[in-house]
Amino acid sequence: MTERTENREVLPTEEKYHPSMGSFEKTYRDSIDHPDEFWSKAATILDWDRRWDRVLDESNPPFYKWFVNGKLNVSYNAVDRHLLSHRRNKAAFIWVGENGEEKIITYDGLYRRVNNLAFALQNLGIKKGDRVLIYLPMILEAPVAMLAVARIGATFSFVFAGFGASAVAERIEDAKAKMVITADGGYRNGKIVELKKIIDEALEQTSTVSNVIVVRRTGHSVSMQEDRDIWYHDVVRDGMNYVKPVEMDSSDPLYILYTSGTTGKPKGVIHGNGGYAVWVANTLKWAFNPNEDDRWWCAADIGWVTGHSYIVFAPLILGLTSVMYEGSITYPEPDRLWEIIERYRVNILYTSPTAIRTLMRFGEKYPKMHDLSTLKTLGTVGEPINPAAWKWYYENIGNSKCPIIDTYWQTETGGFVIAPALGIGLPPLKPGSATFPMPGIDPVILDENGKEVKSGEKGFIAYRKPWPGMFLTLNNDPDRFKSVYFEKFNGKYYCGDYAVKDNEGYYWLLGRADEVLKVSGHRLGTIEIEDALISSREVAEAAAFGKPDETKGESIVTFVVIKDEFKGTPEMISTLRKRIREELGPIYVPDEVHIVNTLPKTRSGKIMRRVVKAVFLGQLPGDISTLESSVSVDEIRTAIETFK
Ligand code: WTA
Repeated sequence: MTERTENREVLPTEEKYHPSMGSFEKTYRDSIDHPDEFWSKAATILDWDRRWDRVLDESNPPFYKWFVNGKLNVSYNAVDRHLLSHRRNKAAFIWVGENGEEKIITYDGLYRRVNNLAFALQNLGIKKGDRVLIYLPMILEAPVAMLAVARIGATFSFVFAGFGASAVAERIEDAKAKMVITADGGYRNGKIVELKKIIDEALEQTSTVSNVIVVRRTGHSVSMQEDRDIWYHDVVRDGMNYVKPVEMDSSDPLYILYTSGTTGKPKGVIHGNGGYAVWVANTLKWAFNPNEDDRWWCAADIGWVTGHSYIVFAPLILGLTSVMYEGSITYPEPDRLWEIIERYRVNILYTSPTAIRTLMRFGEKYPKMHDLSTLKTLGTVGEPINPAAWKWYYENIGNSKCPIIDTYWQTETGGFVIAPALGIGLPPLKPGSATFPMPGIDPVILDENGKEVKSGEKGFIAYRKPWPGMFLTLNNDPDRFKSVYFEKFNGKYYCGDYAVKDNEGYYWLLGRADEVLKVSGHRLGTIEIEDALISSREVAEAAAFGKPDETKGESIVTFVVIKDEFKGTPEMISTLRKRIREELGPIYVPDEVHIVNTLPKTRSGKIMRRVVKAVFLGQLPGDISTLESSVSVDEIRTAIETFK
């Protein structure tokens, strides 16, 4: 057992929140035993244009269809319907700029903006089924763009504004995007990120885009290509242009979100309309139980799935007020989050373990400077949380009174799959455990042969039943969808994580079982880093892997072999790092680059990343029987020692 699973401590939140745990069990059982009734009721969280004929069509697994023939528009559900209620004048977003600027937008204001952009998109020829790539910083135009595209039945693909030009180009090509919505730049740590320039570079490598809409955020000078680039404020006119929401089938795509896997190309995860919207809205209620008047703050970036589901769709469908923050959590000072919580009297904060560990390093002094007493619930997402960070968050931010909702999920799952359910019965919490499955989720922990392991034993987590929020397929690659996720365990959904279930039924998520890294909560493929290195003309071979890191969870370590005609100098290392920054983006830049003369390979020539990693971390390299005979582990060890 790991350090985390041995931590048996149950926290004092128990008394206060526990009494309704029985109702959780009942709700959960209903969801598993009577799924049709359960989901029919859960789906009434949305307004449908046409009711579904059947809750679930399982005739062609794993291509499940939820709410068959149900029709709806998600933008209508997130915006229009609130205008008919008391929420019309309610704030949808309280936006805070990195420079402290504030913008509050009501549901009515959001409605106007979404319609106006939808109108402009239609005028530019975007229609149902087209793909629009969004590459925006954390500004209000980001949710507006997502909703406007959804309103006219097109599909958006939001690319995190920290990605570099090659990564953006790859996504544009794969999605066959007709249009890009971007900004002149974004602010990060007081500096401008040149978003438009990156789009210009990406478009040199692609051929599908006919227009680029550019939001003016920074006002610095950018080049605009005539006939292709248009300023947002020139096409999106003030006033009010109503655009009727396009009626979408429940299983039509809503968005494509690219994520990293074990093979080179990022995977285009496609989420649908009906099932996804039912899932994100219900899971937010079940896990966090927000009240009508609460201020909800999901401090993720909108470019990742957490932002898609829990900054945009779920809170808007529920008609909540969200805080949205533009910039870095340590800018200008490490009390930024706490200052915003005090200023806007935030009630629920949802952030990542990396953010907590980063701020924890600066000490209690910073949270103590602010009144955090409005907080009543805290949440985490994206990576396992270590008990020390959990406790710091619980004691110093939540004043030992706020339960911590540790939400385990993935881009593919659409929303939370394992998380404490404050809304239907909070279990006693154990720091580091995401506790129990959400309704409808039926997990099982398996060994390599697909046999269920005993409680307390580590295995692969898989799911026996589909649920409404699961992704529909992978863009352009239904075969890969089937083989990557459903073949290993005979039709059960599997996506690469280790877990343990303890003898009280709590789930402990133990990290990735595959070649995927979690660096500051960002999901990165080792293979993408290796590919970028190898595509440099100086590099012959490369291996990338993750090293445990106290703050970031993992840091990126790479080993490269430089071609004979070049010199492996420190300048070479800077060049390679710079190139990765430009191509893939700053989050991919390796923390360590070691130059070696050789890398261990199998007889068939495959680099044994696992062996390099084990030797580097001072562990036993495991089975090396397939290692190419001419290279001994000692040789590698010596090479590594030299460069440590
Ligand atoms: C990891 C992020 C432990 C896990 C929403 C998963 C977690 C991957 C947790 C998905 C958690 C996410 N505890 N591990 N609470 N949440 N993970 O697609 O390895 O960016 O497979 O989605 O993050 O990352 P993704």
